[in-house]
Amino acid sequence: MSPLIRTQKVRKAYHSEVETVWAARDVDFEARPGEFVCIYGASGSGKSTLLNLMAGLDLADSGEIQVSGIDVTTANESQRAQLRLETVGVVFQEHNLIEEFTAVENVALPSEARGVPAEAARSEATDQLRRVGLEGLDNRLPRQLSGGQRQRVGIARALTGQRAVLLADEPTGALDSAATQELFALIRSLCDQGVTAVVCSHDRRCRDYADTRYEIIDGRLEARS
Ligand SMILES: Nc1ncnc2c1ncn2[C@@H]1O[C@H](COP(=O)(O)OP(=O)(O)O)[C@@H](O)[C@H]1O
Ligand SMILES: [Mg+2]
Repeated sequence: MSPLIRTQKVRKAYHSEVETVWAARDVDFEARPGEFVCIYGASGSGKSTLLNLMAGLDLADSGEIQVSGIDVTTANESQRAQLRLETVGVVFQEHNLIEEFTAVENVALPSEARGVPAEAARSEATDQLRRVGLEGLDNRLPRQLSGGQRQRVGIARALTGQRAVLLADEPTGALDSAATQELFALIRSLCDQGVTAVVCSHDRRCRDYADTRYEIIDGRLEARS
């Protein structure tokens, strides 16, 4: 199967008056449809930089990034926003849910932004919540959910509208040990259903759930078994 995500020789540096930090050094990466890829590495190693580049939230200095046939490096800002709305869902350590909205309202938001009528968006959101194991919790507010449940809502929101790519940056960073394992297991099961997931984590336990593992050290990506 041809890769759904591919990067070639991606470089990204941050410059300050005193130094240049290479956050991505010649990164070559591939993820196939349905693959669970884990990228682990210490704090400051370049995980967030790489994920933000793949999501089109930041721009590389050089190299190529293809996501689902779109060249992220040459796409303009609105094309990159479109990519995130239609193809790629992103989740972070903080769930970034809207506190005043219920779980189902949060999950329905991206579809509503794409112009899906409210009722259909809500019905799809209910299906997505069931898919991440939150059946019956549609009308809870984020504060009425556990940390692990809130991250599940974030994943449901990231996948609405049949988006098949999940990019997760430290998704378990705010979770306890049991909830961490449950979240990795959920991502595993979503990949078994065809989702392609790239998970960046300093928690090495993500390796146990992934098909493919990379370590990132000072911006350099190294394949691991
Ligand atoms: N906006 C920025 N300006 C300057 N340096 C940055 C910026 N973002 C990240 N860095 C640096 O780039 C390196 C990689 O950071 P990051 O990708 O956030 O790593 P990680 O997510 O693995 O902790 C670190 O040395 C960090 O300090
Ligand atoms: Mg980070």
